[in-house]
Amino acid sequence: MNNRALAVSDHWSAEQQSMIDDIVEGLSQPQKSLPSKYFYDEAGSRLFDEITELPEYYPTRTEATIMTSNAASIASALGEGVLLVEYGSGSSVKTRVLLDNLSNMAAYVPVDISGDYLLNVAADLRTSYPEINVLPVVADFTQPFDLPDRSSSESRIITYFPGSTIGNFTRDDARRILKQMTAVAGPGGGVLIGVDLLKGRQTLRAAYNDSAGVTAQFNLNMLRRFNCEIGTDFQLNRFRHEAIFNEEESRIEMHLYSLDGQSVCVDDQLFRFEPGESILTEYSHKYAPDSFARLAGEAGLKTRQVWTDANSLFSVQYLEPA
Ligand code: SAH
Ligand code: AVI
Repeated sequence: MNNRALAVSDHWSAEQQSMIDDIVEGLSQPQKSLPSKYFYDEAGSRLFDEITELPEYYPTRTEATIMTSNAASIASALGEGVLLVEYGSGSSVKTRVLLDNLSNMAAYVPVDISGDYLLNVAADLRTSYPEINVLPVVADFTQPFDLPDRSSSESRIITYFPGSTIGNFTRDDARRILKQMTAVAGPGGGVLIGVDLLKGRQTLRAAYNDSAGVTAQFNLNMLRRFNCEIGTDFQLNRFRHEAIFNEEESRIEMHLYSLDGQSVCVDDQLFRFEPGESILTEYSHKYAPDSFARLAGEAGLKTRQVWTDANSLFSVQYLEPA
């Protein structure tokens, strides 16, 4: 290691260094990209909450309706005395339907990468549900993480992944995450997951290009965050948000397009953008029910029950190890 490299690695925390490594790797690809997990600092989590209230963004309200309309049958599929481990819990709003309806829960373990936001939500939940043991875990759920120590033992473990956040991963990564969720649930456990369904491109494009521009702010927030946390010099007003629908891959792709020719400095490296060149920041895959069942099957899961809305926009699915 030369002196300059030593000085740089001394200067950054492990978290900052891994952020820099991810950015450098993503911006070095022919299609520049940045990992979607970096949307979620405190400001990003709040912007996501705003997105969920937008008239065009149908997933959250549709999933919430499915949960409330089928609360009893979902609770009966999950059983009593469960340990509920939630991946990417965010505001845990829809989870309240489960906390209201599951009997004798052993504990609730919300897992999220957005640490401060998670701890605030956990504090609110403890106030609302003093009888439930709320044990937050700040972690990247794509990596192995330990379940917290808990005082009472559970009848079974349910891993819960709402919001169709599974859609933010490539099929290979989604299969890996589903396998890991299956392993965490164990042989007698189960998986409850929200899966957004394939639909017309107009509805999809509107949901990710909202007229109030909140999704644009959410997308650009990632660049703002990098400027604050690791001193990059992205000029936010020189990038434009647009989400496109890739029909072949059945997914929304969120991009930030460079408005002109420019260079951006990341740590000690310069990245050149041509006018109109984009950074891919997020996939949001949309599944036909049979294609999701196939993917889950490849991860060792069997679909047991599927709840959907009257317009088949969204699904909540209960699966068990095959
Ligand atoms: N479950 C909520 C929030 C969905 S937004 C809902 O359905 O509305 C996605 C959530 O996943 C955010 O809270 C984000 O911080 C979290 N997240 C995204 N990538 C993550 C990762 N790799 N590890 C842990 N949490 C992650
Ligand atoms: C968290 N995730 C499921 C959202 C989605 O719809 O893919 C993130 C999002 N991106 C833009 N709008 C919402």
